[in-house]
Amino acid sequence: MTGGLGFIGSNFIRLVLAERTDIRSINLDAMTYAGNPANLSDVENDSRYRFFKGDICDARAVDDALSEPVEAIVNFAAESHVDRSILDPEAFLRTDILGTHVLLEAMRRKNVARFLQVSTDEVYGHVPEGHSKEGDPLAPRSPYAASKAGGDLQVLAYGATYDAPVLITRGSNTYGPYQYPEKLIPLFVTNLMEDKAVPLYGDGLQVRDWLHVEDHARGILTVLERGNEMNVYNLGGGNPRTNLELTESLLAHCGRSFATHVRHVTDRAGHDRRYAIDCAKARALGWEPRRDFTAGLRDTVGWYRENEQWWRPLKSGAFAEYYKTQYAGR
Ligand code: DAU
Repeated sequence: MTGGLGFIGSNFIRLVLAERTDIRSINLDAMTYAGNPANLSDVENDSRYRFFKGDICDARAVDDALSEPVEAIVNFAAESHVDRSILDPEAFLRTDILGTHVLLEAMRRKNVARFLQVSTDEVYGHVPEGHSKEGDPLAPRSPYAASKAGGDLQVLAYGATYDAPVLITRGSNTYGPYQYPEKLIPLFVTNLMEDKAVPLYGDGLQVRDWLHVEDHARGILTVLERGNEMNVYNLGGGNPRTNLELTESLLAHCGRSFATHVRHVTDRAGHDRRYAIDCAKARALGWEPRRDFTAGLRDTVGWYRENEQWWRPLKSGAFAEYYKTQYAGR
């Protein structure tokens, strides 16, 4: 797999090593700011795990990682943060579209039997009512979402043109351990632990559907093992919350008050108000989210509380610079 040092990728590798003793995992990761070896420090000595440092845009690095035959490529590697895509879209086009293309070419060259693209519900764009189905038109509205949609279209085009064995999963907002602290939940939890305010965009009434990372990883594994080629599968948590509601829960978990610890800031440009996906196709494969959101959120806050040594170093240096650019003067 690619991008296995990131949030969802590392949780996926941990799940596969724990539950599929016959599977070996090869991880190709460029180690960008979000690719953190500490995410997999507990499995790095497992003889069924092998790491290659490299960029998915680099065909030679991809070939090196594929020097021994593999049964499947699962592409987790992506630039994934919407706010960064608004500041600097180019890296997103490169990794999310060109990188996907390089992997698809490698799949053809090496005759890999299955290719799963890990994508996002953001490709459907803002959903005013109802739930997006896999066949709905794509209407991405941020450079990030448009890049992911571009990747998805490449994957489906390779399926149609070259009869390539491709699958796509589109996950909803994911939370849990090892999430880089730029995203809402880990950013807000760690800010509150540092006794800092949390920056709430606009009116806070945007709706996101929250999926625990273990359920997301399990959903990807289900689609990899049981999905039908050339199919897309939505993976949603079934836990829609406004950002305001979620912020209230996080404040309560961290013992902070709204009045002292929330800073209202200018809204994100082009901010999608609501995402919502229909997951009947993935459920028909036997997948469903197992983690209750209230308990999952409590455990996640607990994980960040117990793992300060993991997140504190991430919030200094380059992240502190990004935070200033992103939030100062808003
Ligand atoms: O829906 C799936 C997507 O979820 C993934 O494809 C993306 O990779 C992932 O980043 C996430 O996208 P969002 O933009 O929804 O996630 P984020 O955590 O950045 O923001 C969640 C909501 O919280 C969103 O409505 C914006 C808001 N927000 C976010 C940040 C970082 C704030 O109000 N303040 C903040 O500082």
